[in-house]
Amino acid sequence: MKVFITYKIPESGINLLKEKFDVDVYEGEKFLTKQEMMERLKDADAVVTQLRDPVDKEFIDAGKKLKIIANYAVGFNNIDVEYAKQKGIYVTNTPDVLTEATADIAWALILAVARKIIPADKFTREGKFEGWKPNLFLGYEIYGKTLGIIGMGRIGKAVARRAMGFGMKIIYHNRKRVEDDYKYNAKYVDLETLLKESDYISINAPLTNETYHLLNKERLSLLKKNAILVNTARGPIIDEKALYELLKDGKIAGAGFDVYENEPEITKGLEKLDNVVLLPHIGSATYETREKMSIMVAENIIDALEGKIPRNLVWK
Ligand code: DGY
Repeated sequence: MKVFITYKIPESGINLLKEKFDVDVYEGEKFLTKQEMMERLKDADAVVTQLRDPVDKEFIDAGKKLKIIANYAVGFNNIDVEYAKQKGIYVTNTPDVLTEATADIAWALILAVARKIIPADKFTREGKFEGWKPNLFLGYEIYGKTLGIIGMGRIGKAVARRAMGFGMKIIYHNRKRVEDDYKYNAKYVDLETLLKESDYISINAPLTNETYHLLNKERLSLLKKNAILVNTARGPIIDEKALYELLKDGKIAGAGFDVYENEPEITKGLEKLDNVVLLPHIGSATYETREKMSIMVAENIIDALEGKIPRNLVWK
């Protein structure tokens, strides 16, 4: 049986797959086009996809023998899951293993934006540091402030756990109240309240039809003037242009982006603002996590091709 991997992933998972199957790994740096991927998919029994691969009906139909689509990500909004399911093709993701790494990046963004780490570093490198000054790079306090978490799943909870160490008041909004919110001292509130009361907001929800532009212009206008918003989930949850306008006009204090509405494109002008931090979607990018993700996709494929239900099926 053949496994096609659309972009190279750490060796650990590939080696597991090679013990059992023929593995066709795309080794190039430049991304394959959809057409090229579909060509290589023709005789594949399994495919490892990346979050930017457009796994739509056409793509799925190209895999005539396909039994499983193993996404190398926790998010799977790039896949037409309903269609795959209809065709009897499994879809799996990589949950849990990237929770802590992604929560760390949310916090890296909160700290970097609040304390102006990037401009301060640039200033020092440029030889502008002449000595301590009372007004040099004043930022925003974090201790004791209110953190609003949108999406209280695994990653949202990991963000909350870190916030407890910062003595923050934690409020959250989710599709429904989560049962163990008491563990995080977190209070369930409606979205409007969260936006009006939070000093820091972290987005940790999946991208779905319901969360697309959840933070639209109108809702973004509820944010406090000192608010800092970070997004490590999916770009289209925010109307990026509307957020840019707020940032440009100083209507909120800052924002940290790991993801973008039209990734890899960035709303023009964002790069000129010094109250934003712009990362290239590195939430899960630690050596340890990426190894675990690689093993996880391999295990799911082995499950499926050996006739079992894969362990990380996205529908339960
Ligand atoms: C995911 O796995 O969905 C993340 O966005 C990758 O960093």
